[in-house]
Amino acid sequence: MKSYRLMYPMRTYLIVSGRGEEANVMAADWVTVVSARPFMVGVAIAPQRHTWKLVKKYGEFVVSVPGLEMLDDVWVAGTKHGPEKLKETSITLVPSKSIETPSIKEALANLECRVVDERDYGDHTWFVGEVVDGSYSETAFPNGRPNLEANFLAHASWVDFVTFEKRIYRPGKANSR
Ligand SMILES: Cc1cc2nc3c(=O)[nH]c(=O)nc-3n(C[C@H](O)[C@H](O)[C@H](O)COP(=O)(O)O)c2cc1C
Repeated sequence: MKSYRLMYPMRTYLIVSGRGEEANVMAADWVTVVSARPFMVGVAIAPQRHTWKLVKKYGEFVVSVPGLEMLDDVWVAGTKHGPEKLKETSITLVPSKSIETPSIKEALANLECRVVDERDYGDHTWFVGEVVDGSYSETAFPNGRPNLEANFLAHASWVDFVTFEKRIYRPGKANSR
């Protein structure tokens, strides 16, 4: 077993990079918040990815949040290389608010990032982006909280994806099953 599977299930995201005809999308599980103020996120991208070259070239990326409805497109983005793959998807790229890298219309949220740091760790490069702007679906995030009915996508292993149970659990015996 690959040891990193012990960290799963993980949320799955889409990373948009490049601009114009060069714009590209890949799937990424290895994404996390690294600072709240300023809001910064990190993503591990392997140098073999076309995305890696575009993030290096333009110093920008968008983290898009897909719902379960985007699973087929997530799979294409995560198994094929370069912008040509977008023709096989239903993804609509739309202008972002503050950076040249586009956002994804169908995504539940888009976080527009400018690279502020990068460092190679083993077989991946860890890119840290400051989130300079973004957009989100009011239905997916009513009152600033995620709506579990929006079917946020998570990855269990290779071809197996899951979404979240709708029931909410709170700490304390009164709320346990
Ligand atoms: C669900 C899923 C998650 C992935 N997570 C990552 C990741 O975090 N980092 C990474 O470098 N590649 C990851 N990949 C692999 C890339 O998405 C894949 O190699 C993709 O084809 C790269 O596209 P590109 O060459 O157009 O950039 C993932 C693939 C899948 C299917």
